[in-house]
Amino acid sequence: MSRGGAAVRVVAPARRLRGELTVPGDKSITHRGLLLGALGSGRSRLRGPGLGADTRASAALVRALGARTAMDDGALTVDGVGLHGAAEPADVLDCANSGTTMRLACGLLAGRPLHAVLSGDASLRARPMRRITRPLRAMGARVDGRADGALAPLALAPSRLRGADLTVPVASAQVTSALALAALRADGPSTIRQPAPSRDHTERMLRAQGARVQTDGAVLRCEPAEALDPVDLDVPGDLSSAAFWIAAAALHPDAEVTIRGVGLNPLRTGLLDALRAMQADLEVEVEREEPEPVGAVTVRSSRLRGLHAGGALIPRLIDEAPLLALLAAAAQGESRIADAAELRVKESDRLRATERLLGALGLEVEAAPDGFTVAGGGRAAGARVDAGGDHRMAMLAAAAALSADGPVTIHGADAAAVSYPAFWDDLERLRA
Ligand code: S3P
Repeated sequence: MSRGGAAVRVVAPARRLRGELTVPGDKSITHRGLLLGALGSGRSRLRGPGLGADTRASAALVRALGARTAMDDGALTVDGVGLHGAAEPADVLDCANSGTTMRLACGLLAGRPLHAVLSGDASLRARPMRRITRPLRAMGARVDGRADGALAPLALAPSRLRGADLTVPVASAQVTSALALAALRADGPSTIRQPAPSRDHTERMLRAQGARVQTDGAVLRCEPAEALDPVDLDVPGDLSSAAFWIAAAALHPDAEVTIRGVGLNPLRTGLLDALRAMQADLEVEVEREEPEPVGAVTVRSSRLRGLHAGGALIPRLIDEAPLLALLAAAAQGESRIADAAELRVKESDRLRATERLLGALGLEVEAAPDGFTVAGGGRAAGARVDAGGDHRMAMLAAAAALSADGPVTIHGADAAAVSYPAFWDDLERLRA
């Protein structure tokens, strides 16, 4: 087996999966800790942050705006510039592969007396940005981009923001967060309406920083603020990273795996609900509720039933939907995952990428315009697959490989470092 950062990895099936694990700090919360911490007055502290390539892009970005970041005894510290204090960046802000960095930073920078350009890698420059540029323009921001603001690079010019009543077309925390960051600096209150609730980490963090942000189902109300307190937070483990071990354990015939200290925000736990509906052997123990729910998840080998998933469940498992397709492929009976067209505009087209990757492993997963139809009753075969530059596809392949009937060779395996640099080490630990 190859070592750290290798582009090709061969994952052999595991005889058994056993153990307790903690996973890296939550990526979504770490991004927000950096960006919202940079807007705080004073020093923010994030204990146990998730430091992958994505969050490093957010760290570099806030430094380019004048904030300072450092590691201090396992905590990431951010010396903020204050809500209204961001400096004009001297160069293009490189958001790398990170949609969260680009979209939240666009909201953070809109309506300031400065110029800024946000860009990223080829995948990020192909992802839809009109969902943020249109409502930001409606608030008075001068923001442009290729295809009339639909694609990055995005360019911001000096402007001022008005409070507004905004309806956004997708249930996306990246969009609502971008707009909330802008709304804090508008001349009056704003309302942001999305079709279904999405992860509310920004709202929770802003409230802890003293901002007046209210959530009512899928509607957010945000008052302008003078200043924000620093962030002081124990970052929970990332459930989206833990999900690979949760799925691998449910699929494997001889498995018992516990993930401790993992985030259990109800707007992130859709996969756990789906697994319960599939009759998985799953225990969830919530140990703390505020400011973010945290606890332990134990999963054992499971005899899964197929399921029909859609509606408001989907935003609660959006990054785990490819894993749900894998689980469904092994379950008894057909499954259908609907209302998940958003998967087409993630780091890759994850409907197509999942169909291809799981298909290469001999699993019958068919991409529909808005989801998957999965035959069920299958078992992954050893094969050669390509992650296509998408971190979650690399880790999906590995999760499948652990209970395949032969080794799986994963090309582009190094993409895992975008969110989970220690993934391959943890994989070896669990199979030991
Ligand atoms: C994220 C929100 C989700 C998710 C992404 C992280 C966030 O995207 O897929 O991995 O941190 O806000 P959308 O908001 O576009 O659904």
